[in-house]
Amino acid sequence: MSAYPPIGEQLDDLEDARTEGRRKMDWALQHMPILQELREQFRESKPLEGQTLGMAMHVEAKTANLVELLALGGAEVAITGCNPLSTHDDVSAALDANDHITSYAKRGVGDDDYYAAIESVVSHDPTITVDDGMDMVYAIHEDYPELIDTIVGGAEETTTGVHRLRAMDDDGELKYPVFAVNDTPMKRLFDNVHGTGESSLSTIAMTTNLSYAGKNVVVGGYGYCGKGVAKKAAGQNANVIVTEVEPRRALEAHMEGYDVMPMNEAAEVGDVFVTTTGNRDVITREDFAEMKDGALLANAGHFDIEIDLDALSDLAVDEYEARDGVRAYEMADGRRLNVLAEGRLVNLASPIALGHPVEVMDQSFGIQAVCVRELVEHGDEYDAGVHDVPDELDREVAEIKLDAEGVEIDSLTDAQAEYMDSWSHGT
Ligand code: NAI
Repeated sequence: MSAYPPIGEQLDDLEDARTEGRRKMDWALQHMPILQELREQFRESKPLEGQTLGMAMHVEAKTANLVELLALGGAEVAITGCNPLSTHDDVSAALDANDHITSYAKRGVGDDDYYAAIESVVSHDPTITVDDGMDMVYAIHEDYPELIDTIVGGAEETTTGVHRLRAMDDDGELKYPVFAVNDTPMKRLFDNVHGTGESSLSTIAMTTNLSYAGKNVVVGGYGYCGKGVAKKAAGQNANVIVTEVEPRRALEAHMEGYDVMPMNEAAEVGDVFVTTTGNRDVITREDFAEMKDGALLANAGHFDIEIDLDALSDLAVDEYEARDGVRAYEMADGRRLNVLAEGRLVNLASPIALGHPVEVMDQSFGIQAVCVRELVEHGDEYDAGVHDVPDELDREVAEIKLDAEGVEIDSLTDAQAEYMDSWSHGT
């Protein structure tokens, strides 16, 4: 098995990195009331005592606070990144300094080291996996199936990971239970919509120093992420154009007042393109041929497969770094098409990217933490396969958040509860 080393053995300026990483984590934690509350509970009751967690996630300050919460709950944690460009080395170093945490995440690693780091995490013999994109589950099933017997279960953070898991489950190949954290309301309605919308647009604006006002912003895919990007771009006075393959999603976008058209038509008029489909080849050679000089191309989907960069590179007569995080591809006719963050998810992989706002990730990671607790307490009640997050866990996290925000809500009276449960009443 791989001997890829933890980050603590890779950095020269380790002490400085740890200090800076800790500073980032402290700032984030101040704005994470759900994780703060769960920290108290986990510190007190140690629900994860005796468990080893293997994680592959975007290693930055918010994730790091989740990791520390899990360690406070009694777990030993080994973690690596789920994207070669989203790791903050200083945060990774701060985590690795914790006696109960080993972090292998390092920014900018090549493919071989990326997968070697996953193997190093697997070498800790995890009893629970926490993934963002399913790389850990995949590595275990493909290469270390002998571990499956001792794995209690897993939790998956993102849409693409859940899609992969459901496909695996349909083929009867998923051998332990995994919670679809992505699909639960406290995650998807906030993280995918608001988080992706805000952080993708702000990262693009800051990376390019350009405005959205009066521009045509083309959003590829009108799912949860696409809705957030479209709404927030419209809020910044852009003209929003949506491309879709699913008729009801296309109709929703149309009824919201956005223009809807095929990508090849949008390519002619778009100034900024943001793909959010989780699918491959959304912007292709035929589209590049139509684009205006100066077009900005960014991807917010999980993998770097939505913009066909091989075709773009093939068409280009010249390529150069136009700014930090912006690669210009010059066409034979002089047009320059600008790709952000190498076509990787822009809100996490751009050099200045910080990922979703802290408050949003507090909710997503609150769900992750209670799912891990549920696996330890009731894991044997779940069969192998993909599972929805139990509704009471989703509500638990929502209630902590409302409480922290000082928001009070009504509760059903007995008569109302009875009415809602009854089918015998008419008018
Ligand atoms: P979703 O399934 O709700 O939406 C995807 C939409 O894309 C669907 O409406 C689908 O019909 C459409 N689509 C598929 N192929 C298309 C094509 N060729 N052209 C146009 N539309 C197409 O998924 P969701 O939750 O919006 O996630 C999308 C992607 O973003 C996933 O890869 C997910 O993992 C990722 N994600 C990224 C985040 C980030 O921080 N950047 C945060 C959360 C999710």
